[in-house]
Amino acid sequence: MTLISTLSAELDEMRAAGTLKRELLMKSAQGPIVEVEGKGEVIMLTSNNYLGLADHPVIVEAAEKAERDYGYGLASVRFICGTQTIHRTLEERIAQFFGTEDTILYGSCWNANEGLFQTVALEQDAIVSDELNHASIIDGIRLAKARKERFKNRDVADFRRALEATKESRNTIVMTDGVFSMEGSLAPLPEMIDIAKEYDAFLVVDDSHGTGVLGKTGRGTAEEMGVAGKIDAHTSTLGKALGGSHGGFTTGPKPLVDYLRQKSRPYLFSNTLPPAVVMGSLAAIDLIENDPSFVTRLRDNTTYFRAQLTAKGVTVRPGIHPIVPIIIGDTAKAIAMSAELLDRGIYLSGFGFPVVPQGAARLRCQISAAHTREHLDRAIEAIVAVAEKHEVLSNA
Ligand SMILES: Cc1ncc(COP(=O)(O)O)c(C=O)c1O
Repeated sequence: MTLISTLSAELDEMRAAGTLKRELLMKSAQGPIVEVEGKGEVIMLTSNNYLGLADHPVIVEAAEKAERDYGYGLASVRFICGTQTIHRTLEERIAQFFGTEDTILYGSCWNANEGLFQTVALEQDAIVSDELNHASIIDGIRLAKARKERFKNRDVADFRRALEATKESRNTIVMTDGVFSMEGSLAPLPEMIDIAKEYDAFLVVDDSHGTGVLGKTGRGTAEEMGVAGKIDAHTSTLGKALGGSHGGFTTGPKPLVDYLRQKSRPYLFSNTLPPAVVMGSLAAIDLIENDPSFVTRLRDNTTYFRAQLTAKGVTVRPGIHPIVPIIIGDTAKAIAMSAELLDRGIYLSGFGFPVVPQGAARLRCQISAAHTREHLDRAIEAIVAVAEKHEVLSNA
């Protein structure tokens, strides 16, 4: 049992250092207010439920209807007997939403990223990737045989250097998050589009935190930056703004999608999305397209929250995104602050190493369209009080 003693010793070290992550048990649906076992009702300030659709009655009804009409699961992968008409409908709707030719669904965006690079980037190709890209991109790239070149986060000059370094490759794929999930910062897409074009590289954006969130109509980071329609392909998730359940996709040119359908391993060897998720996601896209107020409310709430916290001396990473990180530094301190906030009725997670670099632990606030001003004010009051106690207020 030496493996188990090794693991236990490391867990003990993490426990002693105060860096052990704990999972709170919720007894309610995901929403702006959740019930946490042993704590009662608290304000949720740390979920990806950006538009508040995770418990939206229209989506719940669509999911229930899907189960009545199409059953609970397909007991298969897509190409054997796991494709219903609704799977194709969702793929087409996502393509329309993004203005692309076609879409391929995956069990998650993790799977979409995992199934992209190893499939289309071979030994003679190159992948150029932002250093702060999501873990699913990093792992996905590891599986590819292509040459790999990283560039400094959002650094356009270093991006050009990386492309120059790989220019002899047959094909070059550029990969960036649209929104960097620990920072709430956006990739410099307009510049990247121009430079990628110069080098004839294929630009893919993982817009998991942009889809349904950014841009006037929620179409994502490219819409926000005025370059919608100029990204070669996107990966994204159904597990955040678009209902918050599960599932992901790659959307782009038809030959790319056709090729992935033939060869992408997480698509070929993992179960199809369940009908409830498919119909729930379709309902989510309908809601966003028919009611622009979801996106507007999210933007207004974010602007208010950022301005109020800053005015009260809490330093947040600047930006426009509903991810609002408060940098604390020490992991144990961030976790302790998170626990104190929970005692004050605010559910706000602390993130430390290895999710973020050593010394850059943070509380990552995430705003939802479903928050009321009262929720936000209560959260701000609690954060300011805990920040004051831990001496992280800039005006202290
Ligand atoms: C940028 C990014 N890509 C991919 C994922 C994974 O998405 P999914 O939960 O659909 O696997 C996440 C989720 O945290 C993410 O932030």
